Amino acid sequence: MCGIVGAVGAELDLASIFDGLRRLEYRGYDSAGVAIIHNGELEVAKASVARESMDVLADWLSAQSFSTGQVMLGHTRWPTHGAPTLANTHPHLDCTGDVAIVHNGIIENFRELRAELQERGHAFRSDTDSEVIAHLLEESLRGGERPADGLGRVFERLVGHMSIVVALRSYPGMLLGVRRTSPLLAATHAHQSFFASDAPAFLALAEQFYEVPEDVVVVLGDGVAGDGGALLATLEPLSIEWSSQDAVLDGFASYYEMELHQSPEAFYDTVSALMTLDHEAVVDQLSIDPYELRRIRKVVIIGCGTSYHAGLVGRYLVEHLARIPVEVDVASEYRYRDPILDADTLVIGISQSGESLETITALRECIASGARTIAITNVIGSQLSRVADGVLYTRAGPEISVASTKTHLAQIGALGMLAIYLGELKGVLYPDESKRRRRELLEMTRLLRITVQRQDDWHAMLADYLHRERFFFIGRNLLYPVAMEGALKMKELSYIAAEAYPAGELKHGPIAMLDDQAVVVALLGKDRLHDKMLSNLEEVRARGAKLIVVAVDGDTSPDDLADTVLRIPPSDALWSPLLMVVPLQELAGWMAQVRGYDLDKPRNLAKTVTVE
Ligand code: F6R
Repeated sequence: MCGIVGAVGAELDLASIFDGLRRLEYRGYDSAGVAIIHNGELEVAKASVARESMDVLADWLSAQSFSTGQVMLGHTRWPTHGAPTLANTHPHLDCTGDVAIVHNGIIENFRELRAELQERGHAFRSDTDSEVIAHLLEESLRGGERPADGLGRVFERLVGHMSIVVALRSYPGMLLGVRRTSPLLAATHAHQSFFASDAPAFLALAEQFYEVPEDVVVVLGDGVAGDGGALLATLEPLSIEWSSQDAVLDGFASYYEMELHQSPEAFYDTVSALMTLDHEAVVDQLSIDPYELRRIRKVVIIGCGTSYHAGLVGRYLVEHLARIPVEVDVASEYRYRDPILDADTLVIGISQSGESLETITALRECIASGARTIAITNVIGSQLSRVADGVLYTRAGPEISVASTKTHLAQIGALGMLAIYLGELKGVLYPDESKRRRRELLEMTRLLRITVQRQDDWHAMLADYLHRERFFFIGRNLLYPVAMEGALKMKELSYIAAEAYPAGELKHGPIAMLDDQAVVVALLGKDRLHDKMLSNLEEVRARGAKLIVVAVDGDTSPDDLADTVLRIPPSDALWSPLLMVVPLQELAGWMAQVRGYDLDKPRNLAKTVTVE
């Protein structure tokens, strides 16, 4: 959600720390702020002009008479409490101007704390839940407590999942950090120490990162009250395989476009890491005994947004290839369903970031109920990867654009590999069949490359639809989740009303919405439901709606029905979601670009959602 950067050390180069904050822009934000301690003075600057806030802060920084400092705190805010105004932008200060805090997460009991502090005379300047932290710490310090002890006691009073970093004017060589579930990493490098919510902030600053342990106040710098460096030395460093270069735009106008083009490599790297050259399974990170996996009688897949849609595709893959019944749910719902789980249930949590709070907390509850768990995530060492019994990493590299593209394909690849492995263990697939399936999946890379390269042809074909405002996406069987993903992409990038339906459901209600202003995007696979889908297209046509059909090369059946046919290469129907989703990602991106929207930072969205 919110992004946090903190640095402490003699002669910090403020511009490079600010650059670290900029690297967190991709998480999504509406306002940003910094606090700097230099020569014993605490300076605060904030900007709340949405995505231009970083430029405003950069201008402010370069206009200052100083370019170095002892402490810098930075924050990008994605609002949960209070509008994206200047007053609500972090860092927040206490009444004396000594304490500066940045916070990510939600303080569930902030109303009581605020009322209590107001009664004792504290003046609040914002509507945020975060500001209570500064005032509570002010009281602790006034009472003579050491900063780390004071923050520890304040933290005990805060209910909820969060991470906090604190700077104190009266302790200019010290930075304090603490977290519960929300992400917070620490690093030290060449007499400088850092906190950040997310590894990309550090990539150019440090080589080794550590996760701040939960509920422990870590003190960095030459703090009198503790030695963060010594604590970090006792922790296992996280292995981050990305370099700062990985996150650079490579001649593309947006990360969204770049990442869409990186999909074939993201998919290949993910799938090939899970098999030998001879197409045998490589599952060393699964950490679940094959004997236990053989016993699995039910699979549950949970995730949010695009990851949830990958899970829906995964259901068809696991049921078809391993013949195990699968349930799929959005993580935020599953957690409260009072689910029925036991040791014979395998729960798969999917999350690109590995930090979506709802997926982590839902998975934790599944573990408590005795289920076996696997995380599918793109971030090595992320919380989800550590919570689960085993991990399958997607190897898509950093995904900067808020809207996911390449990681979705990598997730489907990982699910495909897992489904084949389960099928093999269960004896549903003979060894030669499972090898054939793995080879087939790997070969999808070539078809994905061909598909991604067709985007320019599609642009010209889509001109007639660019100003339409109502879209329906339809598909059947494992193309229905693809339709859902197409509608999600359209909503989040182009802000156009878009709904997805299983094509057979149209006639049970939604068809009433169709008229000559509506556009229906239909996914026509070359599968056993092909002819039924054609009947559904006739129903659409008869209502006068515009019809875009995604069909495979050589299938001429939609030519007389559709206004536009977007072509993809033919493949085994089981793997067709990998190709079908590409034109939908492209359609949504193209609509947004033509309308002048920022493809990488859609409004109101955050890349990493660490609140419930
Ligand atoms: C959509 C999108 C979001 C995420 C969702 C889950 O393009 O990116 O819907 O898929 O917030 O995020 P992760 O996968 O990080 O758990």
